[in-house]
Amino acid sequence: MNGLLKFITCGSVDDGKSTLIGHMLYDAKLLFADQERALELDSKVGSREGEIDYSLLLDGLMAEREQGITIDVAYRYFTTEKRSFIVADTPGHEEYTRNMAVGASFADLAVILVDASQGILVQTRRHARICALMGIRHFVFAVNKMDLVRYDQKIYRRIEKDIKKLAVDLELDHVNVIPVSATEGDNVTLKSPSMPWYQGKTLLGHLETVDVEDETEEQGFVLPVQRVCRPNHTFRGFQGQIESGTVKRGDGITVLPSREKAIVQSILVTDQEASEASAGKAVTVTLDREIDVSRGCILVKDADLIVSSMFTATILWMDDVELTQGKNFLVKIGTKLIPAAVMDIKYRVDINTGEHLAATHLYKNEIAVCDIAAADEIVYDTFRKHKGVGSFILIDRVTNMTSACGVVEHSLRRSENIVWQKLDITREIRAGKMGQKPLTLWFTGLSGSGKSALANELEKRLSVAGRFTMLLDGDNIRMGLNKNLGFEPEDRIENIRRIAEVARLMNDAGLIVLTAFISPFASDRQNARDIIGEGNFVEIYVSTPLEECERRDIKGLYRKARDGRIPNFTGISSPYEVPEKAEIVIDTSKQSIEESVDIVLEALEKYF
Ligand code: ADX
Repeated sequence: MNGLLKFITCGSVDDGKSTLIGHMLYDAKLLFADQERALELDSKVGSREGEIDYSLLLDGLMAEREQGITIDVAYRYFTTEKRSFIVADTPGHEEYTRNMAVGASFADLAVILVDASQGILVQTRRHARICALMGIRHFVFAVNKMDLVRYDQKIYRRIEKDIKKLAVDLELDHVNVIPVSATEGDNVTLKSPSMPWYQGKTLLGHLETVDVEDETEEQGFVLPVQRVCRPNHTFRGFQGQIESGTVKRGDGITVLPSREKAIVQSILVTDQEASEASAGKAVTVTLDREIDVSRGCILVKDADLIVSSMFTATILWMDDVELTQGKNFLVKIGTKLIPAAVMDIKYRVDINTGEHLAATHLYKNEIAVCDIAAADEIVYDTFRKHKGVGSFILIDRVTNMTSACGVVEHSLRRSENIVWQKLDITREIRAGKMGQKPLTLWFTGLSGSGKSALANELEKRLSVAGRFTMLLDGDNIRMGLNKNLGFEPEDRIENIRRIAEVARLMNDAGLIVLTAFISPFASDRQNARDIIGEGNFVEIYVSTPLEECERRDIKGLYRKARDGRIPNFTGISSPYEVPEKAEIVIDTSKQSIEESVDIVLEALEKYF
């Protein structure tokens, strides 16, 4: 028994993918009896005039899949005397790229179908590229429909040569090519008498014996901590699945990112004490001393992982909404979940040809290379070296959906070489001298909603009360610090990021900061909250309705926007995402500025 093999099949509609897998299951007698009979009956009225139409088998799976929109990929489990298999079946069309990526991410091997009468096509390249991107290192190219080309060796050899060239282009690791006929069964489970010139294994024979154990450059012991387990105060164990290498009792390990060292005191595999454990095992490890370890930390021995906050990655965009540079997400890498932004889309990769194309946005099913910055230092590695800690997903902060999956290409030096400098005079000391708690009062709302007027009035009242304050106002900041920014989504994202950083610096200086920016996007306000810190950030939503703002039209901008003279105007031609968890909500169409300020001051009591 060679253990479980997880593989994916890739092919387009007419490649005979369903027939091939169907035939394999049938020949290997892997069907349930009633399913087999159903197939024979069905075929009587099917397209092959009484011959069994093996593709019906997998089409059944399609129907299953269509019942639930949440199921992206159909998985089928089967077993032979030699091995167990799970096969992921995904549609091959370009608009289903993300489904294929999901299927590929789970698989160790890809079976890619090539039509012998057509040779390598654009989609063959696409399928191979997606699989390689998702970390598949074993490929089988099944050159199908050999019966249609009269089992001609010359035709096969030519296609085989093209495949070898493709493998070099895409840097595919282990490539096998097998000539088959899915309808006739040649080289599927039984050697074909029609192709005596082929000396290799049958498809099933290959799948039963191929060794997909990772013999890559992965070295050293790596354990991403999934959970800190503390059933009582004498026991403190770190749980996770060993990503690579082996750990033994008594080993000296290092915790990243802190670089603290400790000795392994015990190892538990399920509930059993073990003297050692290796890659793939879920373990609980205890250490000989108390050190700071939390979820997302990584325990290592003889492994050189990267600790930094910025990296370059290849991502596959899966969201219906396009990606804009600068947008904030949560990144899940290894076991770590942390805010991050896509800083820069360097280029898009044409999924069919591999060509590099300029891009400022990324649309569903597109692949791009971009720079990603996390909110703090994280531990990771390149995908080539460590699959598990070198791949990640980006999660939309508002919808909580997976927007993209990606793999780390390399870290960005500039972030590795910057070290946070500890200063002796702290925020607490500075604020203490002012006798106040620094806060950022973040006003958000439409243009003309009353943010600036409210913030101005509030600052006066705070100032009179002896507080030290600073007001950052949208229009004013756009005349100085942010004069290079416009109103395109990526500029607004950067506008808010800079303001949040400045507000934090001013909080560090001890000040109470008031900001008045439209800040229309929920993910940017969330990012500002992360930068400034949850306990220091008070979101004040000025909810004055659009009709009222437009009626006031203090700056005459709404009229211009309606006339089409201002593009991307918030509320008119650019969206405003209403805050769902603002600490304070004020509608200036319902109360005067003075009343509004009273309400805000009262709500702020508990922070001071
Ligand atoms: S934000 O969206 O990036 O937060 P910000 O608050 O800095 O906007 O600037 C908004 C101010 O810029 C508005 O009050 C208005 O005076 C002016 N403005 C000019 N063009 C636009 C536009 N297209 N959309 C919104 N405000 C605009």
